[in-house]
Amino acid sequence: MTAISEAFEMIRMISGGLYLTHSLYVAARLGVADLLIPGPQTATELAGAAGVHAPSLHRVMRALASVGVFTEDPDGRFALTARGRLLASGPGSLRSVAMGIGAPWHTRVWESLLHTVQTGETAWDHATGESLFQYFASHPEHAALFDGMMTEFSVWEAAAVAEAYDFTGIHTTADIAGGHGWLLATILQRYPTMRGILFDLPHVTSGAGSALSSHALNGRCEVISGDMFHCVPGGADAYLLKNVLHDWDDVQAAKILSSVRRAMPPGSRILVIQEALPLGGAPSAGKLLDMQMLLIGGKERTHGEYEQLFAQAGLRLTRLIPTAAPVHVIEGAPA
Ligand SMILES: C[S@@+](CC[C@H](N)C(=O)[O-])C[C@H]1O[C@@H](n2cnc3c(N)ncnc32)[C@H](O)[C@@H]1O
Repeated sequence: MTAISEAFEMIRMISGGLYLTHSLYVAARLGVADLLIPGPQTATELAGAAGVHAPSLHRVMRALASVGVFTEDPDGRFALTARGRLLASGPGSLRSVAMGIGAPWHTRVWESLLHTVQTGETAWDHATGESLFQYFASHPEHAALFDGMMTEFSVWEAAAVAEAYDFTGIHTTADIAGGHGWLLATILQRYPTMRGILFDLPHVTSGAGSALSSHALNGRCEVISGDMFHCVPGGADAYLLKNVLHDWDDVQAAKILSSVRRAMPPGSRILVIQEALPLGGAPSAGKLLDMQMLLIGGKERTHGEYEQLFAQAGLRLTRLIPTAAPVHVIEGAPA
């Protein structure tokens, strides 16, 4: 392939990413992967079970098979691959992720990316008339999907964090804006004498039951609702903030860190779990995720930017620990 045709192919693929986002959304919404668990099926059989138009579903399945989400045999029967299995329900699933990213209400926000670049205004607020977390408070069905997406990412990230960071000696870990608590539960399960505090907004903590109960924590986790900008629970010796600071601009992120700093007893530590972006043009999943953060008014940051944020909140960045997932553990202590 010449350099010109490779460039052509690449731009065609990148701009056509939308085709895959929405095809994956349809497959996830219809539960096609669950239907394929017993074995291969034709699009007609799948469409019958899902109650949809078979010729259209066939074309969606064929497109997804062409990028390895399914296989298609010469008789037109589709089967799951390792990628396709991630769309099926159960542990490790990314079905909610596929449904959330391709959802019509989310797509409408992406239509405002140009508006954000032209004006600096937040696309989410422009498109929906509400800020991100106000929107979820007033749209419970979308909030449930969002919280499910966060848990799906957490299933992968929590295992990598628990493997990469040694929590030995920590008696109480507080997970601030911890969603449904999967990360905290994973750590508590690994350290059987540790106690935990899960803290998030009331409409989120009310849905935390299943993540916590699935880890058999025997009452070691207290659930507290509140506003992290106002105050967070005291008395923990480790404070987790996973995928929280990237939702906010520098002013708000410094306020969150200051709020945690005020609650931190002497000798405690803070563990910010985010990808620290590489400098220059190096490839990074975080640089793409940063487009999502641009839409909601937040940002992904470099090591140096985290150092500055920590300093503004009276914290000192002590270590940056990579994990097997695309997140680092960014450790800090009172300055
Ligand atoms: C991107 S999610 C990350 C959730 C979780 N830490 C994880 O990694 O799965 C951000 C979380 O911040 C929470 N949040 C937003 N504003 C908050 C506030 N003012 N006080 C407490 N939590 C808040 C949201 O409810 C949401 O669960």
